[in-house]
Amino acid sequence: MAGLALLRNLYDGSTEDAQRRIADVRRVLADEEFAAGEVTTEGDVATGYRLWSTRYDEPGNLLIAVEQPAVWSLLDDIEPGDALDAACGTGRHARRLVDLGHRVTGVDLTPEMLAIAGNAVPQARFLPADLLALPFPAQRFDLVVCGLAIAHLPEPRAAIAELGRVLRPGGKLVISALHPFQAHLGWHAPFQDADGNRGFIREHPHTHGDYLAAFGAAGLTVRACLEPTLGLAEVAAKRRAFRHLPETTTDAYLGLPAVLVWEAEKTSDPLPSASA
Ligand SMILES: C[S@@+](CC[C@H](N)C(=O)[O-])C[C@H]1O[C@@H](n2cnc3c(N)ncnc32)[C@H](O)[C@@H]1O
Repeated sequence: MAGLALLRNLYDGSTEDAQRRIADVRRVLADEEFAAGEVTTEGDVATGYRLWSTRYDEPGNLLIAVEQPAVWSLLDDIEPGDALDAACGTGRHARRLVDLGHRVTGVDLTPEMLAIAGNAVPQARFLPADLLALPFPAQRFDLVVCGLAIAHLPEPRAAIAELGRVLRPGGKLVISALHPFQAHLGWHAPFQDADGNRGFIREHPHTHGDYLAAFGAAGLTVRACLEPTLGLAEVAAKRRAFRHLPETTTDAYLGLPAVLVWEAEKTSDPLPSASA
């Protein structure tokens, strides 16, 4: 993190600030609390979200804090209809869609996340399914939402083709994902299981070009692209880092784009190769 803070200020930062960052690094290296490091295990999607499910809705998820207002600002302007929350998790967006008057179906790969969604949003229908093979006929939905899931896939094209397939002509797709800038920095989805063990689920850096090519192939036209950034509140929500190194954490992260949010409209048929 100090490396990122130094790099961001390489050309126009002050020598004094750089020296404070380097002093922070020395302090961390000398601190026995950090000397042993920490075990953080990678989990695949099904394992990771099974372990995370009981704590997923705990407050303090800084990505959700940044993503939710942006996604909901788009959802609030869309006419109620038949809505799909794809990779719905514990039902955060599904609940919002119900509140907005939509008839909501939610799907997810992880049964433990779906079970929580079912209890939390009884007005919606939930079923297990993969984003890449949705169990619905073409053009079934007026609106498809997919929050913070697509970057778990190595590439977005096949999922966007499938999400677009189930949209009616004129229907809207709203997608959010970890911003590729953060994924390039090595940010994955971190979690703690019920016993406090730390793990992460991999996130891939899909570029704007990747998304635009996928939307084009799926017959989707971009209507909005939002890139909300990390403010002071979110930087402070990196609690352990901020507690030990507040200035370094702020220099490293403040103002960086955190999430990429797209709204696209189904305007034409997909290209024949869209899901290839
Ligand atoms: C970070 S959570 C987001 C949940 C919810 N959309 C939200 O924004 O709060 C990611 C969810 O995507 C689901 N997921 C990941 N890959 C998936 C796939 N290929 N098909 C269906 N669900 C998937 C996971 O099981 C998990 O519940």
